Amino acid sequence: MMDAVDQYAVFGNPIKHSRSPQIHAAFAEQTGQALHYRAHKVELGRFAEVASEFFRNGGRGLNITVPFKLDAFEFADELSGRARRAGAVNTLARGEDGRIYGDNTDGVGMVRDINDNLGWPVAGKRILVLGAGGAVRGILGPLLKQRPEELVVANRTLEKAEALAELFAELGPVSGQPFEALPGRQFDLIINGTSASLSGDLPPLPSHILSNEGSAYDMMYGAEPTPFMRWAAAEAAWAVSDGLGMLVEQAAESFCIWRGVRPDTRPVIELIRQSLSH
Ligand code: ATR
Repeated sequence: MMDAVDQYAVFGNPIKHSRSPQIHAAFAEQTGQALHYRAHKVELGRFAEVASEFFRNGGRGLNITVPFKLDAFEFADELSGRARRAGAVNTLARGEDGRIYGDNTDGVGMVRDINDNLGWPVAGKRILVLGAGGAVRGILGPLLKQRPEELVVANRTLEKAEALAELFAELGPVSGQPFEALPGRQFDLIINGTSASLSGDLPPLPSHILSNEGSAYDMMYGAEPTPFMRWAAAEAAWAVSDGLGMLVEQAAESFCIWRGVRPDTRPVIELIRQSLSH
């Protein structure tokens, strides 16, 4: 039997280092919502089975992280427009009718962090996005919605950048390019969506690619600045940020979908920031 309190969880593999339980517990406390949120490691290949069981037992909502965002996309009975475009689902919610609704809050979370928390307006800016994997696909729609002057997706494997640009072309001025095409260009905002930081690597970026007031955003986060953030600081970037705010903002958007209440993210970003350094 399920507890009387509404049940939520994040499914992933690995999941040990997930900050989501701490974030959602803080949101619940702040907004006076009674709920329970736990992290659950799901065996590879068993996502649909475990998710079905969770909802059958009365679970209300799930966050989905690596490597199950495509499984969640397949699992949902209904998809939001942004989940369809992202090709991935990070939020599942059970409706009153028992149907499972799939959404993707990663891109809006990142745009909210960049636009609102950091105060770097995207509108009218020249944006360079590094990488063309699932993480980048999730952010292109919400970024283009802000009407940048130009959005370039640069990737080691050019075909993937070109395919993404084609997929999003109807939403705005987006192109896919190789890193070799970047020297001589300037951008107002560079977003690192590659997984290079995970292995301590830096995407091959030329010098002087940031404009005078150009800023740099890494979708990754950690206790220490990533190699990309250190590169940007050495290039005299006007401002540099990691993706911790994005993590908290995507969680806030999920919380809002489930509970109909929008939490105040600032104190929670601070809380998680502090816990990273311990
Ligand atoms: P995710 O779902 O996190 O986006 P992914 O689909 O594996 O993960 O994509 C990883 C991205 O990081 C890809 O764009 C990859 O480039 P390739 O498509 O050419 O493989 C990019 N990437 C990973 N390591 C990199 C590195 N050291 N330098 C540059 N790009 C890198």
